Amino acid sequence: MIKKCLFPVAGYGTRFLPATKSMPKEMLPVVNKPLVQYGVEEALEAGLTEVGFVTGRGKRAIADHFDVNYELEKEIEGSSKEQYLESIRDVMEKGKFSFTRQTEMRGLGDAILNGRRLMGDDPFGVVLSDDLCLTGDDEGVLAQMVRLYKQFRCSIVAIQEVPEDQISKFGVIAGEKMKEGLYQVSDMVEKPKLEDAPSNLAIIGRYILTPDIFEVLENTPPGKNGEVQLTDALLTQAKNGCVMAYQFKGKRFDCGSVEGFVGATNYVYDNIYTAD
Ligand code: G1P
Repeated sequence: MIKKCLFPVAGYGTRFLPATKSMPKEMLPVVNKPLVQYGVEEALEAGLTEVGFVTGRGKRAIADHFDVNYELEKEIEGSSKEQYLESIRDVMEKGKFSFTRQTEMRGLGDAILNGRRLMGDDPFGVVLSDDLCLTGDDEGVLAQMVRLYKQFRCSIVAIQEVPEDQISKFGVIAGEKMKEGLYQVSDMVEKPKLEDAPSNLAIIGRYILTPDIFEVLENTPPGKNGEVQLTDALLTQAKNGCVMAYQFKGKRFDCGSVEGFVGATNYVYDNIYTAD
């Protein structure tokens, strides 16, 4: 079944400057855990244990986070502080981590294409860690999508209804409603103007992709903002076969924006950190 998950993490995080001048935005902590670790935990929960990162310059802290820090660990061994390492030790025990670099920023589609060697010929998950998805005691969003994949065997995108003033920030789908919360995609537009948007159903940063996406991406010309867009490649897949869009159950925070990040921090502090 699906065992692999790709994390494109090469982006600059300009909205968080100066914090992200020398620190990857994915390492910003939501309370006490880096954003990217939440995404990796969600992938592991879904059984996606082979985790690949497409990184870039200045992102070494991410690789270090998923590796042992002997000096620190020796220092706090046997003390009560060791408990703070529990979650990352658990992640490192369950997951296998690989890294590759994207040398030029040519868009999400190009980043995914850079992950080809890590993902190989199998279907795989994609997590955009800026989108923090929390589901409480329920199944995580990727686990929900893996279950759907078993049924449909085609690429799946996570979607959410968004207000009109937000639509131009997302990929937006149109589709035939199969049942509550599930659509077969017929159209997809990357960051449309409100008047060109085919619906208010926006793509959120969780995907299951079938491996033919790589061929499609290779033949996808640059689109919106001159970048190779995953949304365009998915539309090709939808036209040639099938792509499903799934309105997931759970909360999503846009941690790529300061407001969303603060919202996530407050939510995690109130509902997870202090509740533990
Ligand atoms: C990317 C995708 C977009 C999607 C969004 C979700 O855009 O290109 O289709 O809706 O992630 O967060 P980005 O936010 O990276 O510009």
